[in-house]
Amino acid sequence: MKKITTNLDNFQYFYPYTVNIVGAQSGEQINYMACAWHSALSFDPPLFGVLISKKRLTHQIISQAREFTVNFIGFDQVKLSAQMGRISGHDKDKIKECQVELAPAKIIRSPILAQAYVCLENRLIDVRPYGDHDLFVGEVLAVHEDEGCFDLNGALDAAKIQPLLYLGSDLYITIAPESLKHVLPD
Ligand SMILES: Cc1cc2nc3c(=O)[nH]c(=O)nc-3n(C[C@H](O)[C@H](O)[C@H](O)COP(=O)(O)O)c2cc1C
Repeated sequence: MKKITTNLDNFQYFYPYTVNIVGAQSGEQINYMACAWHSALSFDPPLFGVLISKKRLTHQIISQAREFTVNFIGFDQVKLSAQMGRISGHDKDKIKECQVELAPAKIIRSPILAQAYVCLENRLIDVRPYGDHDLFVGEVLAVHEDEGCFDLNGALDAAKIQPLLYLGSDLYITIAPESLKHVLPD
């Protein structure tokens, strides 16, 4: 296909992104937001990073709480992503007004989301600015997953979980399980 050189703002168009719902509890205040910029950072110790703009209430809450949970949701939870990603806790109590099902975490105080298929409990160990976003690095203290959604080798069972994928501009899609291939180098 012919390449066109486009403007620099398009650097982030390496879609699809997987979407998680990240947030924390600080005092009595609980807030979560949709997050597409995230990554596992290290196996040992297990570290996970999320990039959060200073404008987000979630930035403030995680900074205060010094912990956060990361909650990966399926395509059936697409509405939750739109709510948590297009409404700010600065304007509305999203936990009260949206269909967020909180569940107690095992180790930290901040809740996990019951409707997520994988939840990570993290202790905040570092925050670093990168331009207009800050990288929040968490040490993963506990992992919760829906029973049976990974096979014995740790691969996601595509027949059971349809991960939520983001294509930009409020467009979402999911995987096509019939495209599954097990591929090894020759
Ligand atoms: C699919 C999706 C992914 C998003 N990913 C990020 C992200 O990685 N980092 C970020 O700072 N904002 C991201 N946002 C924007 C925030 O989720 C949004 O501004 C949210 O309303 C912030 O809520 P808060 O102010 O309650 O924290 C994303 C929005 C959507 C819809």
